[in-house]
Amino acid sequence: METIKQIDSLRTRIVHWRGAGRRIALVPTMGNLHAGHLDLVRRARERAEHTVVSIFVNPMQFGKGEDYESYPRTLDQDRTHLQSEGVDLVFAPSVQEVYPQGREKQTRVEVPGISDILCGATRPGHFTGVATVVCKLFNMVQPDLAVFGEKDFQQLLVIRRMSRDLCLPIEIVGAPTVREADGLAMSSRNGYLSEDERRRAPVLRQCLLAAEQALRDGVQSDQVERDGLATLEKAGFRPDYLSVRRATDLAPVRAGDTELVILAAANLGRARLIDNIRVEKS
Ligand code: PAJ
Repeated sequence: METIKQIDSLRTRIVHWRGAGRRIALVPTMGNLHAGHLDLVRRARERAEHTVVSIFVNPMQFGKGEDYESYPRTLDQDRTHLQSEGVDLVFAPSVQEVYPQGREKQTRVEVPGISDILCGATRPGHFTGVATVVCKLFNMVQPDLAVFGEKDFQQLLVIRRMSRDLCLPIEIVGAPTVREADGLAMSSRNGYLSEDERRRAPVLRQCLLAAEQALRDGVQSDQVERDGLATLEKAGFRPDYLSVRRATDLAPVRAGDTELVILAAANLGRARLIDNIRVEKS
């Protein structure tokens, strides 16, 4: 397995693979890899002859006062995991390589409508940072497909929309959330939890499951949201939102919508946790 830090060297490798007619998959990450990331890698490997994993903690998607500086960087350990998964290439560029003109002068990719709600409301500019870096990574790697986790449901929709709107010839594959035994969605940010917070963290998932059941029982969305938020607060979370939305575009639910998603983001201690659950109503 090769680790490449420069775009030029990456291109040389990609041109070689493309010339030989091979399919290329990309798994974009910010590193500190866990079993959720590795599941994406396996899905990528099933679908392509060559798998590239990018590891880049993208400053453009972090807001002021967020955890950019303290975000865990564990490249050596990540490389060991990726090597045993049979990954061909790790692309781990520096900030200078990705943003040579600085971030302020960087052309941005904005995905309107879906970027300023939910996580975008609490984290202004976050999804522009995500869409911009993913678009750049797509252009650097030129993959046939890219795999993203449904854990970051809004992110997945932003990327699908960006790819469609910019006519990018890349298949976007969504992968189910990988969880700890107690239901907590795996996340690099779980490492911020104290022992006591870690014990309480699965309440987020339990709230979503209770909300799903309530919706199925015919409880109105706004009541479901209020009950869910109250449960989270009682368990010591500081919730940003718990919201029932239409799964296709995250619009507020209207009578007759059948494909729904309940999404939640809540702070527990130093960690901001997100999770979601799909609900198909008959
Ligand atoms: P990161 O948080 O490292 O996540 C990389 C990919 O792993 C994303 O597609 C995310 O949805 C997926 N993932 C994270 N936890 C998961 C879990 N428990 N189960 C399944 N998949 C999971 O998301 C980002 O990085 C960045 O925003 C990025 C897309 C790389 C752009 O910088």
